[in-house]
Amino acid sequence: MIERLLPPGVTWAETFTDRECALFPAEEAAIAQAVEKRRREFTTGRWCARQALAALGLPATPIVPGERGAPGWPPGVAGAITHCPGYRAAAAGRTPDVVSVGIDAETHAPLPDGVLDLVSLPAERAWIATAPPGTHWDRLLFSAKESVYKAWFPLARRWLGFEEAALTFSPDGRFSAEILVDGPVSSFSGRWLTADGLVLTAVTVPA
Ligand SMILES: CC(C)(COP(=O)(O)OP(=O)(O)OC[C@H]1O[C@@H](n2cnc3c(N)ncnc32)[C@H](O)[C@@H]1OP(=O)(O)O)[C@@H](O)C(=O)NCCC(=O)NCCS
Repeated sequence: MIERLLPPGVTWAETFTDRECALFPAEEAAIAQAVEKRRREFTTGRWCARQALAALGLPATPIVPGERGAPGWPPGVAGAITHCPGYRAAAAGRTPDVVSVGIDAETHAPLPDGVLDLVSLPAERAWIATAPPGTHWDRLLFSAKESVYKAWFPLARRWLGFEEAALTFSPDGRFSAEILVDGPVSSFSGRWLTADGLVLTAVTVPA
């Protein structure tokens, strides 16, 4: 499904079940204290990442969580990983053609009570209140902001708050994000879909 959101030149892999994948020692060390659920999502994320790298013609390398949890892709690669119940995916592209990638998957269900107010701007809430039925726009907004953050962080190396990006959606599966603080990128373009009980979003920053 994720390929529908990604441009040519960005490779991807997704799975709906957990996968076995030999971890490099540095990856093992990163999850040495992790509970089983975290081990499984981390390992399957690496399985996806290895596939995405292989599709770029690159060998498996350790992809270790670094600063603020950002995955350490090999030099010359921009990529992203996501996992949610029943779904895991990775996407990757070669720099400089692809400068940054963000992908996110969520269960397609309303956000828990009170969360929308924490992750949205007044204008976003006003739009959601009148948006076409059939889509949990609150969850979609959340996912899109997670994708924006995953693409933003490797470029900016700093936090971006939910109130620091203003998102607008079109029902045809596109969205845009205006970044409200100074930084290396002032806007992002993304795509979204809902299918099989999931919300998927992706942002790609081209050269
Ligand atoms: C980091 C964050 C985006 C992860 O999203 P999530 O929905 O909780 O989890 P997902 O399973 O989709 O993604 C997890 C993956 O995100 C990636 N990730 C974590 N921190 C990251 C960062 N700082 N930059 C880029 N990618 C990051 C990792 O690859 C991680 O998987 P891994 O640990 O197995 O490698 C989220 O936890 C977070 O901190 N959000 C707050 C910041 C934010 O979203 N601001 C909105 C700005 S508009």
